[in-house]
Amino acid sequence: MRLDRFVSKCTNMGRAQATKLVRKGNVEINSSKVNNPQTKVKLESDTVKLNGELLEYKEFIYIMLNKPQGYICSTKDDKHRTILDLFPEKISLREPHSCGRLDIDTTGLVLATDNGKWSHKVTSPNKKCFKTYIVQSDTPLTKEDMQLLQEGVLLDGEDKKTLPAQIRELGECEYELKICEGKFHQVKRMFQAVNNCVLALHRSKIGNIILDNKLKPGCFRELTPYEINEFL
Ligand code: URA
Repeated sequence: MRLDRFVSKCTNMGRAQATKLVRKGNVEINSSKVNNPQTKVKLESDTVKLNGELLEYKEFIYIMLNKPQGYICSTKDDKHRTILDLFPEKISLREPHSCGRLDIDTTGLVLATDNGKWSHKVTSPNKKCFKTYIVQSDTPLTKEDMQLLQEGVLLDGEDKKTLPAQIRELGECEYELKICEGKFHQVKRMFQAVNNCVLALHRSKIGNIILDNKLKPGCFRELTPYEINEFL
């Protein structure tokens, strides 16, 4: 990869600014100053420093966020705060998108990346990736309601039933629901379909990736290589 592109990618500065810094002699490859922005960087073996600081190249970023209430998952909105507002500039400038959306009032696990192929594997209905939600309902579900939700219910405005889901009771009016689709307001509409109402919704797991319990609402961390591998 060309040095100017490498510096620009690692720092999120524009290519022109990166080129300027290389020309000015602020960049070293393997401890030797390099002034030519077209110099090739070997990604596997070269060590590149900018003003003496090691640059770490990442082709893509992968993030786990504990979304608090009051934020939306789209990346641009005039009225609401978006998940990008929760990231430092170093990350938000790469414009990671969320892999499936949570409503403004839903909390919990959001995966975000700038790798479109990876997010497609998380969200595509064909991949049958289960998302786990903790649901607080208005009133207790009956055995029949739970059976219906498990088998599939017809959502308002749809002509096909939801795919089979898994549900178990956690406490009074508290349920764990696993679904492998991501229809608009799906969980809330599923509960509506059995004449109930969701009072609070939290996503705890996507596929095998579990929300890190060390992450307070609004906090995030990068995914581990093991977690990234789940959807590669
Ligand atoms: N289902 C919903 O109704 N809302 C969400 O935020 C996610 C799933």
